[in-house]
This record gives sequence, C-alpha cells and structure tokens, in this order.
Amino acid sequence: MYSFVEQLKQTQDRVNDVLREHLSLNEPSKLLEAMKYAVLLGGKRIRPFLVYATGRMLGAKDEALDAPAAAIEAIHAYSLIHDDLPAMDDDNLRRGQPTCHIAFDEATAILAGDALQPFAFELIATSEKLTDSQKVKLTKILAENAGVKGMCFGQSLDLEAEDKEIDLVSLEKIHQHKTGNLLRAAVKMGFVCSEYAQDIMIEQALDDYATAIGLAFQVQDDILDIEGDSAVLGKTVGADIQAHKSTYPKFLGLDGAKKKANALYEAALLALDNVPFDTTTLRELAKFVVNRQA
Ligand code: IPE
Ligand code: IPE
Ligand code: MG
Ligand code: MG
Ligand code: MG
Repeated sequence: MYSFVEQLKQTQDRVNDVLREHLSLNEPSKLLEAMKYAVLLGGKRIRPFLVYATGRMLGAKDEALDAPAAAIEAIHAYSLIHDDLPAMDDDNLRRGQPTCHIAFDEATAILAGDALQPFAFELIATSEKLTDSQKVKLTKILAENAGVKGMCFGQSLDLEAEDKEIDLVSLEKIHQHKTGNLLRAAVKMGFVCSEYAQDIMIEQALDDYATAIGLAFQVQDDILDIEGDSAVLGKTVGADIQAHKSTYPKFLGLDGAKKKANALYEAALLALDNVPFDTTTLRELAKFVVNRQA
C-alpha cells in the first residue's frame, strides 16, 4: 500500500507524462512554449488526482483515466494563466516562477490560455481508451463546469466582488463556482469512466464529497494567502488583501475560516460513508486539502 504522498507523486508523474507527450508537437512555436511553461512546471495535480482516485476506486483503468485527468489539468492551467493576468488578479508569481504573461507577454499568455481549452477537449476526443459514450459524458461535464455555469462564472463574480461587502451566501457562491466546480468535475469524470456510471446513489454521494472539498479547497487557499509562506506556496502572499478580494478570512476571521474548512472536511467524510467502496484515498485527499501549506 502506497502512502498518500507517494500516490500523489505517482499521479503527478503519470499525468505529466500524458501532458508532455501531447504537447510535443513537431512545429515549435512561442505559443506552444507558453502552454508548456504554464502546464508542465509545477502544480499539485489535485484535479487529476481526483480523477484517478475516484476512477480507480470504482475499478476504472488508469489508461482510460489518462485523458480526462490531463484534460482537467489543462483547463485548470488555463484558468490560472488568465487569473494572473493584469486585467484579473494581476499576479507575477505562480508555482514559484514568473507568471505566464511575465515570462512571455500578455498576448501570448492570453493565447496560451485560449489554446489550452481546445487542447483539453482534443485529449478526450482522441483518446483510444474511452468509449464514444464516455467521451460525450466527459465533454459535457468538463464544459459545464468550466464555463458560464461553472469556473468562468465564479471568476466573473469574484472580480465583481472586489472592493465590496458581500454576504456569506454570495461568497460561497463565488468559491463554489470559481474553484468548486472543477473539483466536482474531476470526481464526476473519474466516476463516468467506471462501470458504475449509472448508479445515481454513488454519483450523489461522490458529488456531496466533491462539493465539500471543493469549497474547502478555496477556503484553505484564502487562508494560505494570509498565513502561507510565499516560498512554499509559490504565489505572492497577501495578494487577496491587496486586491480587496472577498474571502473567507475577511468574512469570518482566520479562526472562523479554519473552523469552516474543518467543518467541510467532516462533511466530506460523512458523504463518503455512503460510498460502498474503499474510500481511503479520497479521505486522505480531503485531509490534505485542509492541511496543505501549498
Ligand atoms: C490554485 O489551484 C487556484 C485555485 C483554484 C485555488 P491549486 O492550488 O490547485 O494550484 P496548483 O495547480 O497546485 O498550482
Ligand atoms: C482562483 O482563485 C480560482 C481560479 C479559477 C483560477 P484565486 O485567484 O484565489 O487563485 P490563486 O490564489 O491566484 O491561485
Ligand atoms: Mg482570482
Ligand atoms: Mg488569483
Ligand atoms: Mg487565492
């Protein structure tokens, strides 16, 4: 039995190989370099980890999970490139190195983010290890959770909420969309690659789990923006306060935000009680989400 840390490392290596292989094009370009820079250099690979962990738990093969795992990481990487742009959070440090628009230029960073989106869907469409029906389901899940009903919507609400006093319901809505949706998509993508894809009880329990860790993930991100170590985090600490962002620590205080993260952790574990499989890895991931320092 591998430890959680070993499993995470194994996932990182595996999904990185898939991403690297598909980003090895014959025609070199500045655009391709920017995409590789943003996708391949660092990152925890939590979303791919959720795809693999959920799929494996339900008996899916790693070979089938490779494309959805790489696809969701590509969408995530694009969201980070655009999130860091001057027009959005205007950050210059990501994963311990200059953000894509600093390392390249703004137009190239925008295009790298643009190109990573069709790249993600191409990974799914061209996989030889997925059935056509799985490809359609995966495409739908990823599209819905990334776009105007998911992550982009959340990002737009996040920007609107700068310099504003908002209520807790609105704050939760921002976080659930900008971050929670991609984590929920990851779990669902692992689920639909399995032979239990028709089981609505398992689907619901897993979605309850993913909803809890999705929100917890962003609450912890907000906490680390205050008390994290920039060298460990690989991002500029204090960026949220600087940008007058609406965050959980701003609303509940640092202790209140930590309590919220722990309550969500407990809710995630409770949801897994309704999943009649070996949920050890998903439980460990939930713990990692609220205890991580990066
Ligand atoms: C950062 O995501 C942005 C959020 C949605 C909170 P991660 O913390 O997963 O970033 P990487 O991929 O590990 O760099
Ligand atoms: C970003 O939230 C969520 C995304 C969809 C990228 P943040 O703006 O807090 O993420 P970081 O702190 O820059 O990674
Ligand atoms: Mg942001
Ligand atoms: Mg940001
Ligand atoms: Mg943040």
